[in-house]
Amino acid sequence: MRPNMATAVTTDPMLPHPYLVQAVSKETPDTFTLKLAPEDKPNGRSFRPGQFSMLWVFGVGELPISISGNPAEHKQLVYTVRSVGQATNALVTQHVGAGVGVRGPYGTGWPMDAARGRDVIVVAGGIGLAPLRPVIYEVLHHREDFGRLVVLYGARSPHDLLYRQELAAWARQRETQVLVTVDYGGMSWRGHVGVVTTLFKYARLKPAQSVAMVCGPEIMMRFVARELMAFGLSRNDVYLSMERNMKCAVGFCGHCQYGPHFICKDGPVFPYEKLRSLMEKYEL
Ligand SMILES: Cc1cc2nc3c(=O)[nH]c(=O)nc-3n(C[C@H](O)[C@H](O)[C@H](O)COP(=O)(O)OP(=O)(O)OC[C@H]3O[C@@H](n4cnc5c(N)ncnc54)[C@H](O)[C@@H]3O)c2cc1C
Ligand code: FES
Repeated sequence: MRPNMATAVTTDPMLPHPYLVQAVSKETPDTFTLKLAPEDKPNGRSFRPGQFSMLWVFGVGELPISISGNPAEHKQLVYTVRSVGQATNALVTQHVGAGVGVRGPYGTGWPMDAARGRDVIVVAGGIGLAPLRPVIYEVLHHREDFGRLVVLYGARSPHDLLYRQELAAWARQRETQVLVTVDYGGMSWRGHVGVVTTLFKYARLKPAQSVAMVCGPEIMMRFVARELMAFGLSRNDVYLSMERNMKCAVGFCGHCQYGPHFICKDGPVFPYEKLRSLMEKYEL
């Protein structure tokens, strides 16, 4: 039987869907949030917290970016992007109305089911708050399903803090504690100064009933995981989101291999237990 070409084309995992830029807003001097809406699916596409898309900037290239929006509002996909090189710079300088190709969402996402009925500890460094923001939305949206929410967030300086107004709004929610720190405060900063692990002593944690979700530079995640386990969390209750170079994002090319895992399809979120031997080996 001849293959149905329409089906063959629409199910090709390497084919990006056409999206249009709806809004671009500046978060910090080098970080922007983009809202994209699909041209071909008016109801949008659902996603799970922690999943990522492959974003194709025409004429420049394709790159993995986590979805940073609210899972309950999926008519648009929201991404927060830090400009570090050619592709990210091209993405954050797109204008409203420009076309961007989107593949995905891909990846396993954060363990929202395992977190139900338990306290949720979110620990983020820098741009790492972007992949964790959907977790915060989900917990606050289904407040009765979860225990306390503790958000610990570190950035380089006050100018590098993402979502400042939302951080303040989250801190006002019931059963929620938000603690923020910066590496360098400057004259006008009245808040905490120090790496994110220095916030642990101020956090009201109940390790036995908690799940922790951590995203940031790999070195930061190592220290945070260690600290959480020293507090009594088990290795299966500490989850990290890993980053590696990606090409296909669907487990074909091997670019994202990390030991026995493909970050794109087995991750990017893993319990520390699965990464332990690799993370501890690479530390030597
Ligand atoms: C699953 C996944 C999710 C991601 N989610 C996000 C996200 O939500 N927001 C976001 O801004 N980025 C995210 N990234 C990282 C993003 O994909 C890279 O920053 C991007 O591919 C860099 O492309 P570029 O061409 O702009 O920079 P390149 O020209 O490739 O790199 C420019 C410079 O930045 C350095 N660099 C590149 N990538 C990173 C990185 N990840 N961290 C630190 N330094 C880096 C390079 O070593 C180089 O020095 C994610 C990556 C993965 C794998
Ligand atoms: S990016 Fe190709 S296997 Fe993961």
